[in-house]
Amino acid sequence: MKKFNILIAGGGSTYTPGIVAMLADHNDQFPIGEIKLYDDLAERQEPIGEACKIMLQEKNPDIKFSYTTDPKEAFTNIDFCMAHIRVGLYAMREQDEKIPLKYGVVGQETCGPGGLAYGLRSIPGVIELVDYMEKYSPDAWMLNYSNPAAIVAEATRRLRPNSKIINICDMPIAIETIFAEILKLDSRKDMNVRYYGLNHFGWWTDITDKQGNDLMPKLKEFVSENGYALETEDFQHKHPSWQATFKKAKDLYALDPETMPNTYLKYYFYPDYEVEHSDPNFTRANEVMESREKEVFETARKIVEAGTAVGTEFHAGAHATFIVDLASAIAFNTMERMLLIVPNNGAIANFPKDAMVEVPCLVGKNGPEPLSMGEIPTFQKGLMEQQVAVEKLVVEAYIEGSYQKLWQALTLSKTVPSAKVAKDILDELIVANKDFWPELN
Ligand code: NAD
Ligand code: LMR
Repeated sequence: MKKFNILIAGGGSTYTPGIVAMLADHNDQFPIGEIKLYDDLAERQEPIGEACKIMLQEKNPDIKFSYTTDPKEAFTNIDFCMAHIRVGLYAMREQDEKIPLKYGVVGQETCGPGGLAYGLRSIPGVIELVDYMEKYSPDAWMLNYSNPAAIVAEATRRLRPNSKIINICDMPIAIETIFAEILKLDSRKDMNVRYYGLNHFGWWTDITDKQGNDLMPKLKEFVSENGYALETEDFQHKHPSWQATFKKAKDLYALDPETMPNTYLKYYFYPDYEVEHSDPNFTRANEVMESREKEVFETARKIVEAGTAVGTEFHAGAHATFIVDLASAIAFNTMERMLLIVPNNGAIANFPKDAMVEVPCLVGKNGPEPLSMGEIPTFQKGLMEQQVAVEKLVVEAYIEGSYQKLWQALTLSKTVPSAKVAKDILDELIVANKDFWPELN
């Protein structure tokens, strides 16, 4: 049986060890010949690389493993590139979150002005990875988690329309895991879902079990009282800030009791509440730096010092499962149904063809085939048209080096109250991003 070679780009990411562990543990379902890590920052990647080497040696010594900062070595002879880079690292995420908050505007990694700033940094980073892949392994697929996924997806659609890249997000998977718990199912895979939206901006319309029975009434009863608040062991979403987000789903649901909302909609529906409940001196970037980032690098250090990974665990949650499931669906042409970010092309009947939307797709060796979600209601259509215009303007601003279009994008964002505030935030973001953004005229 063919064995697959995997490159993880953003080797120093806090999510890398979880994906490596997941690949090693699922080798019977998805046989692996080689795993390589690639990062442009050697000192960040090295501790993770050394720990993964020890862990893999113990879990499955037949899998060849290496890590490198050399693109040719990394991208040669691979079948899949699983990408999750963070251009500018957590230091820049902190700026993305704190600068808008100074002006009383939502400060968030992917939503509002912070997300647009991150988008302009991510576009060249992801495009560079696509180009390396096409140069050294032209038949490979890139499965991309790098955020902000909506803007990155629009940029790859515009700049590399024929490339084999699929942009993905783990948030719907995490929320579906909560649905399964609420419904007392063993797994989110026991449900069939219909969903439409943009990345971090969507709604579930139907949820049935595998026999086709409607599960929405039971879910609605729970969510109208509790939102998505459940005790969760989920590594990625265990912090109090995420617990508050899951509770807030109750207020998102109230706006349209026929659907289940993506949690990121809180930044667009309740931006005033979000700003009031943010600490401008300690944002989510600080929370992650003090928790997940510290914990992952500490675990890596312990493994390297001890020379063994036995008794030490890297967490591998829904995030890792989803990307491995996607690679298997392509490798074995399973036509599994998965939520992916794809060009609309009629999947949402009353929405522009050239918008990048998040909808269920059947996935096989030729990539995703989007399923038809029909027409969507005025409320969601209006919101999505505004947001997709913001995302398109950011990509146009990047391509044309246009200050004007970026100012328009910020002004159009539902999170920003006026063109004046948009300009003040933009001017400060330009200074903070001087090492990353194209020159804007
Ligand atoms: P991280 O900072 O821990 O890791 C990112 C790594 O990327 C770093 O080691 C960095 O050196 C490297 N990097 C940056 N620019 C690079 C480039 N141009 N080429 C190669 N490597 C580069 O970040 P993290 O918290 O682990 O997150 C990684 C990415 O995954 C982020 O974009 C994050 O937003 C995204 N993410 C996405 C989802 C999703 O569902 N879409 C979920 C979680 C995280
Ligand atoms: C979050 O803020 O939880 C997400 O962006 C994922 C992460 O990096 O923690």
